[in-house]
Amino acid sequence: MIPGGGGGLEFMMARRGRRRHASTVPDSGLTGPVDIPEPQPEQGPKDLRSRLKRARTSVAGTVRGLPKVARLTWQASPPLTIVLALITLLSGLLPTATAYIAKLLLDSVVAAIQHRGTTGDIVNVALFQFAVLAATAVSSAMTSIAQTLLQERMTLTIRHRVMTHASDLHLAYFEGSTSYDMLRQAAQEAPTRPLSMMNSALGLVRTLITFGSMIALLVAVSPLLALVALLAPIPAFISQSKYGSRAFWLTFMMSPIKRRMDYLSSLVTTDTYAKETKLFGLGQYFVERFRKLGVVAYERQRKLTVNRNVSSTSWGLLSTFAGSAIALYIALEAVGGRLTLGDLALYTAAATSVQASVSGLFTAFSGMYENNLYLDTLYKFLDTEPEITAPGKPRPMPSTVEGHIEFDSVTFAYPGAEEPALEGVSFEIRPGETVAVVGRNGAGKSTLFKLLCRLYDPTEGRILLDGVDIREFDPDELRTRMSAMFQDYVTYQGTAAENIGLGQLGALEDRARIEDSARRAGAAERIERLPSGYDSPLGRWFDQGVSLSGGEWQKIALARAFIRDAPILILDEPTSALDAQAEHDLFARLRALAHGRTTLYISHRFSTVRQAEKILLLDHGKLAEHGTHEELMALGGNYAELFTLQASAYLNG
Ligand SMILES: Nc1ncnc2c1ncn2[C@@H]1O[C@H](COP(=O)(O)OP(=O)(O)OP(=O)(O)O)[C@@H](O)[C@H]1O
Ligand SMILES: [Mg+2]
Repeated sequence: MIPGGGGGLEFMMARRGRRRHASTVPDSGLTGPVDIPEPQPEQGPKDLRSRLKRARTSVAGTVRGLPKVARLTWQASPPLTIVLALITLLSGLLPTATAYIAKLLLDSVVAAIQHRGTTGDIVNVALFQFAVLAATAVSSAMTSIAQTLLQERMTLTIRHRVMTHASDLHLAYFEGSTSYDMLRQAAQEAPTRPLSMMNSALGLVRTLITFGSMIALLVAVSPLLALVALLAPIPAFISQSKYGSRAFWLTFMMSPIKRRMDYLSSLVTTDTYAKETKLFGLGQYFVERFRKLGVVAYERQRKLTVNRNVSSTSWGLLSTFAGSAIALYIALEAVGGRLTLGDLALYTAAATSVQASVSGLFTAFSGMYENNLYLDTLYKFLDTEPEITAPGKPRPMPSTVEGHIEFDSVTFAYPGAEEPALEGVSFEIRPGETVAVVGRNGAGKSTLFKLLCRLYDPTEGRILLDGVDIREFDPDELRTRMSAMFQDYVTYQGTAAENIGLGQLGALEDRARIEDSARRAGAAERIERLPSGYDSPLGRWFDQGVSLSGGEWQKIALARAFIRDAPILILDEPTSALDAQAEHDLFARLRALAHGRTTLYISHRFSTVRQAEKILLLDHGKLAEHGTHEELMALGGNYAELFTLQASAYLNG
């Protein structure tokens, strides 16, 4: 009756995972068949007992989620929560009051017509009716105010918590696809969910109050009528619940399709993709894929919507029939004088209201169930502990770090990877030394740098800084002693000065220091030519933002690495986008820059590599060769081979 068991999301993920392994159909939506898996979430036996058991589990799971939601709402604003709760509960009685007044009004009118009552009575009832209607209007306005304000506050609170938590999490969390999905969901979906859940829960209580009071009112008129009113909506309820759960699962199953559609749409609407889509003539292809996916999604939705409405209307007709039969019965009873005209009005109002309540109960509950699934993801995300943390008693960082680095049999495999990215790597770098790391693509060079910055911890072995395992330090403090430019450096949508200053927060406003680093990175000349110099916005997100070339951006990123006066400097392919002159200039300056610091850089250009005091050659995650340029050339191994290869290409070209 109620969808699935507890963890709908796990089910989804397991299902997607299985599909990926079982077939070769890619999940990107760029190729492959255009379809959506049938929503068949209910696995296992379908007999009544297991269905009831599943229903019980999901009810229990949803109910267990409530206290947490209540706490979140309360934390956002206690007064607003109280206002919302009181008004919601009060408004549960309003439909009953309205129905009862309709009865009173009719009865008093009939009494007046038959000269048994006075117009004064009618005026009193009318006044009472006005009061109830006014209360209804006021309460709905207040509910909407309270909800809007609470929503704003909760969105802020939850986004704030998600951001705080995300900024503390370890890099692996961001680089894993499942956990990254979870983060996306927590950041985008979760902020609105707690209040929806709270609303559904309060709605459930409100409906129960309406339902209960209506039934009580009907019992007072006729217990038999109450019973019939209670039973009549059952067929409609069953069909509602069946299709309600299908609709829920369809939404779930559709979300991958929606994501693919979003991706296809971004491929043709994003500036950075436009060049390639035009050149390869991909626009039409992507648009056509998008259209096909859209047709499938629409078709599925259409079937469900039509079936759902046809079915619930046909079953609903049964209820309507029962209701009409009873209305007829009451009408005849009223003619016979056994019931009043007011009773007839009351019953009609009550029957409609009870029917609405029954479907309202289901909607409220399935809403809670769905919201709870999203909230589970939020809690799971917030409960994820950062894996790279400071030890209980971190060793204080020495005031001057020498920059002596030692890798001691370091092995590292990325989470979930079958092969290690680094295996048994041992080497030593003396303070102040300049070291080049070389190797083929995928050899593990960037990984080595990530380990050194403690963005990951080695699976085996240790990394020592000045003789101390880096895990003994507080990682935040350790990182203040390092400066780095990564292979995929960030291009901040900010001014040139901000782009550089972000490398050392304390120097964000220190223009002299920023200009100095820009000069050292070779970026100063270009920045000075910008319309507003260092205050020019870079990137296209801003009005009047300047678009820089790839190499110009890289120089800015280098300046950001240089502004930090750290004893260890790490550069991952710092000149990959630079022209020959700029590269030459940079390495000429690097000697002065690297003075007194331990410097490590990765490069594929051997002309720059040979200038290093020590060279490490990685091959398939292992340290294959190390030594000076002369030593490695004399060794006649892999390094000598690659060096000669590149040099001869220059000479013969
Ligand atoms: N975040 C990650 N998760 C899983 N595996 C990864 C991740 N990053 C890199 N790898 C894998 O680890 C291996 C080493 O990658 P690394 O980035 O260290 O190579 P590299 O030597 O820097 O190569 P390049 O010269 O292309 O930059 C590769 O096989 C890569 O597929
Ligand atoms: Mg790399």
